[in-house]
Formats: sequence, C-alpha cells, structure tokens
Amino acid sequence: MALLEVRDLDMVFGGVHAVQGLSFEVAPGTVYSVIGPNGAGKTTLFNMVSGIYKPTRGRIFFDGEDITGKPPHALARRGLSRTFQNLQVCMNLGAIENVMVGAHLKLSQRLLPAMLHAPWLAKADDACREEAARLMHFVGVGRYVHAHASSLPYGALKRMEIARALAAGPKLLLLDEPAAGLNNTETREIDTLIQKIAASGVTVVLVEHDMKLVMGISERILVLDYGKKLAEGSAAEVRSNPDVIVAYLGGA
Ligand SMILES: Nc1ncnc2c1ncn2[C@@H]1O[C@H](COP(=O)(O)OP(=O)(O)OP(=O)(O)O)[C@@H](O)[C@H]1O
Ligand SMILES: [Mg+2]
Repeated sequence: MALLEVRDLDMVFGGVHAVQGLSFEVAPGTVYSVIGPNGAGKTTLFNMVSGIYKPTRGRIFFDGEDITGKPPHALARRGLSRTFQNLQVCMNLGAIENVMVGAHLKLSQRLLPAMLHAPWLAKADDACREEAARLMHFVGVGRYVHAHASSLPYGALKRMEIARALAAGPKLLLLDEPAAGLNNTETREIDTLIQKIAASGVTVVLVEHDMKLVMGISERILVLDYGKKLAEGSAAEVRSNPDVIVAYLGGA
C-alpha cells in the first residue's frame, strides 16, 4: 500500500490554477522527488499535503487515511513532517530549542507546562532535549548543540530545520529545496543525509532544483509543469523523456 496517495488534486488561487488534476503515489521506504520549473506548483503541492492549504478539489491519503483538509499539527501527530523552502528559524532561541519545537508539535499539550517549568515534566523535557541533541548530531550539526540559532551559518540552519522536522518522529518527511543556496560540498552532504534518513526508515518526498542530487537519490521522480503531471518514472525514464527535455532539462 502507498504511504502517500494524491488523487486528482486541484488548487486554484483566483485566476491561477497552481495544481491541476494531479495524481501520484509514494511507496513506503522510498525517496520520491518532485521537480519542475519555478512556479510549477511544487510548494503548493507540499502546502496541500501538509495541511497548510485545503485543496480546491481532490483527496490526499496518508498511511491509509483520508487526511484532506486536516490541519498541520494533526498531520504532524500522525507522522507527516516537512521543511520549508525559506528558513523558518526562531533566531532568538538556541539551536537546540529550535529542534525541540519539532518534538513539541507531537506533544503540544506539554508545551505550556514545560515552559512553566512544571517539575513533573522536567524529565520529559530532558528526554526531548536529549533527543534533539541526538538529531543535531545525526544531521551533522552536533557542534552547535549549545549555540544560539543566530550564530549558525546558513548551511547549518538548513540542516537544523531537517533535525526539527525529524524531531516530530515522522513516517513521511517532505523536504522543500533542502539544497537551495548551498555550495557543492554542502549539497553532497545533504545528499548523504537524505540517504541516511531514508535508510532509517523515513519515506522522503523531495522538491529540489539540483538535478544531480535528484537523479542520484530518487527511486521515482514526478515532473510538474504548469501544475500538471508532465512525466513520472525512474531517473533514467525521466531523463530520456522528450517532453521533460523540452520543458525543463533544456537538452541536458
Ligand atoms: N498563496 C498563494 N496565492 C496566490 N498564488 C499563489 C500562492 N501560492 C502559490 N501561488 C502561485 O501558484 C503557482 C505555483 O507556485 P509554487 O510556489 O507552488 O511553485 P514552485 O513550483 O514551488 O516554484 P519554485 O520552484 O519557484 O519554488 C505560482 O504561479 C504562484 O504564483
Ligand atoms: Mg517552491
């Protein structure tokens, strides 16, 4: 059974038909990438799947359940987590607190007492902090466990956001351009990290413009163009598809 199934999805903003009649399935344990030119509807798709936008039409199924229109916190609790194309960091907190916020999405009822330092919750908060530190090491920013978020370089912040998404304990992780703005070395590190995440049993849906990263890492690739599915298949199938070459790869 598919972990994620999108069925005949549409999103209309005023006169803009951002996503049109889109259907696809993501098998558990895979890396599934979504590519397409700027404005193709990739982030809009993520916003619908993660519950930020309610689709104009169509259904979304996650882990066998219809989740269409459910709010992001409810989806996080079910095991669906994401990162954002633009940094969403609380610069006035420590790096580790930013990661802990991800776990609190899962345990939101504990957030307030924990903030009030309720003693019976101190243990839970310690466990949450330890898990956040473990995840920071896992994504390769362990050296910043005691650092203030504002002191982290951009590349470390991108990875800290992945740690925050993992802190919610997802089955499915949506990554919106995790390599945007990174240099070649940092991009290769993200490549390795995504493979490590997949190997740990988390299914990954990746939006990314870096074709080398996408082609090397994805079991399947969905190509969007003006909100519609242009092609879908393995890297080899997508790379040799004439429509894709014309619309996106530019003969590459
Ligand atoms: N909240 C919104 N209100 C109005 N139009 C929107 C909204 N969000 C997205 N759009 C429009 O929907 C279309 C798809 O945008 P989207 O951000 O999903 O593209 P994208 O594929 O993620 O592009 P990029 O690669 O540049 O991130 C664009 O025409 C965009 O202007
Ligand atoms: Mg986008």
